[in-house]
Amino acid sequence: MEAIKKAMQMAHDKKFFKEAEKRQKEGKKMTVSMDLKGKKAVIFGVATDKSIAWSIAKALNDNGCQVALGYQERVETYVKELAKELDNPILEKCDMMDDLLIERFFETIEKEFGKFDILVHSVAFAKRDFLQGKFYEVDRKGYNTAQEVSAFSLPMLVRAGQHLMNEGASVMAMTYLGSVMALQNYNVMGVCKAALESSMRYLAMDLGERGIRVNAISAGPIPTLAASGVGGFDKILDHAEKKSLLKRNISTSDVAHMALFLASPLSKNITGQVLYVDAGYSVNGW
Ligand SMILES: NC(=O)c1ccc[n+]([C@@H]2O[C@H](COP(=O)([O-])OP(=O)(O)OC[C@H]3O[C@@H](n4cnc5c(N)ncnc54)[C@H](O)[C@@H]3O)[C@@H](O)[C@H]2O)c1
Repeated sequence: MEAIKKAMQMAHDKKFFKEAEKRQKEGKKMTVSMDLKGKKAVIFGVATDKSIAWSIAKALNDNGCQVALGYQERVETYVKELAKELDNPILEKCDMMDDLLIERFFETIEKEFGKFDILVHSVAFAKRDFLQGKFYEVDRKGYNTAQEVSAFSLPMLVRAGQHLMNEGASVMAMTYLGSVMALQNYNVMGVCKAALESSMRYLAMDLGERGIRVNAISAGPIPTLAASGVGGFDKILDHAEKKSLLKRNISTSDVAHMALFLASPLSKNITGQVLYVDAGYSVNGW
């Protein structure tokens, strides 16, 4: 808890959170309406009000979807407070490193929530030491932990929860450009995101015959708790703003809008894809 408070404070001191808040507010002003009444979403990865998963949870809920949040114990207080803004949510602890908790999580879902239509994977972790300097400095434990939490967790959650997914369900995972390009300091997380994106395609193949879609959203850089662990994140934000085709950074609301689209029947024939929400950064060859 102290570590989270400290990281949040650091981010505030660095002032980049303030800009993100401004962008987030602008995004919220845009009214997007999608009829998701009667749908249910299971969402992993809410830690703070800056979390991408939080924006997605709010957007889905605001559009009629009931949500269940799977959260890490260390962020419980924050999640319980935030969840007061949601309509009748289910809250349950879950940790990607703990098979038993994952099993229990889905038992609770089965009992208290029932079958669901949307699964959001918005979870990642690597030790701060391995998100700076040389990639080759990563050790076995750091590499394995990062992969386990950030990539293996996707097939693991699908295995544990697929029997509760309705036909036509939509699974989505959050990724970043560091999966396909070498980006300074992103290091081991880039390798995890490559594994995550590949896992997403195999899962899309596994679940396709049930009409279940699996996609990834590749977001541009956004100041969040996880992002504050990446070395030189301020510079990454500045650079993204200058180099993106639209000459601006994105907000969690932009990602939530893509999530709404992926949750809706409008995207019924889109699966196995990485969809970029990055203001055109990734295609600028200049
Ligand atoms: N912020 C960005 O710039 C950015 C860009 C592209 C993609 N992403 C991805 O978006 C996702 C969400 O990150 P965010 O930026 O919203 O940051 P965040 O810190 O708000 O969310 C990360 C989440 O991962 C959870 N987590 C970490 N270890 C876990 C574990 N062992 N078990 C269960 N949960 C665990 C944390 O509790 C937290 O809720 C991540 O996959 C991240 O890589 C972020």
